[in-house]
Amino acid sequence: MQTVEAIAPLREQVAAWRRAGECIGFVPTMGNLHGGHLALVDEARARSDRVVASIFVNPTQFGPDEDYENYPRTWEADCAALEAHGTDLVFAPAVEAIYPEGPQLRTRVDVPALNAILCGASRPGHFTGVATVVTKLLNIVQPDLAVFGRKDYQQLMVIRQLVADLSLPVEIVGGAIAREPSGLAMSSRNAYLTQAQRARAPALYATLQDLADRLLAGDHRLGRLIDQAKQQLINAGLEPDYLEIRRADDLAPAGAGDQSLIIPAAVYLGRARLIDNIPVSLPAPGLKGVS
Ligand code: PAJ
Repeated sequence: MQTVEAIAPLREQVAAWRRAGECIGFVPTMGNLHGGHLALVDEARARSDRVVASIFVNPTQFGPDEDYENYPRTWEADCAALEAHGTDLVFAPAVEAIYPEGPQLRTRVDVPALNAILCGASRPGHFTGVATVVTKLLNIVQPDLAVFGRKDYQQLMVIRQLVADLSLPVEIVGGAIAREPSGLAMSSRNAYLTQAQRARAPALYATLQDLADRLLAGDHRLGRLIDQAKQQLINAGLEPDYLEIRRADDLAPAGAGDQSLIIPAAVYLGRARLIDNIPVSLPAPGLKGVS
């Protein structure tokens, strides 16, 4: 496995692979890798001849009071895990390589319909930072396909939208959510949880599952279902940021007739902010008169 820090040698290596007729899969990450990241690497490995992963803790997607400085950085363990999962090249640029003029974004990529809702409402500017760095990474690596986790569902939607709108020649693949045996979605930020908090955290996914079950059983009183689910989170010791029932394809509020739904949620728990989501596919005729 090669490790490359600068853009020019990365491009040379990818170009050489492409000249040899090889297809390139890409998995962007911020490091501190866990089973969720590695499942994306496996997905890229299964679909491409060469796998490039990036490790870059992107300053422009962190708010001023967020954990950029303290974000866990575990370089050696990450490289060992990537190598064990068949990664060909790790791209690990310094901040100056990605933002030579400093991280205050002279040019930025925005997806206005998606960047101020849900996580974007609590984290102003976050999705602009994500959309801009992902556009840059896709332009630098120029992969045939790139794999992103469905755990960050809104992020995946933002990326699909910008790739379509900017006509970027890359296929975006959504990878399944990897979970702990308790149901807790794997996340680098789970490291912030104390043992007592870890015991409470699985209530997030359990609550989403209960809500999904009720929808599937025909209870479509959305406002009431959402209130009950938020109360369930509070009872479990979690502080809801948001919990919504949305259309899966564009994250717009769900309405009568919609069949393909997503329930995204975010909670605060100690130092951590946890996010998760569950898809719900209703049989025809979809959501009944919505209240
Ligand atoms: P990071 O949080 O490191 O996540 C990298 C990728 O792993 C993302 O596509 C994310 O959705 C996916 N991922 C994280 N936890 C997962 C889980 N439990 N199951 C499946 N996939 C999971 O997301 C980012 O970094 C950054 O915003 C990035 C896209 C790299 C841009 O800076």
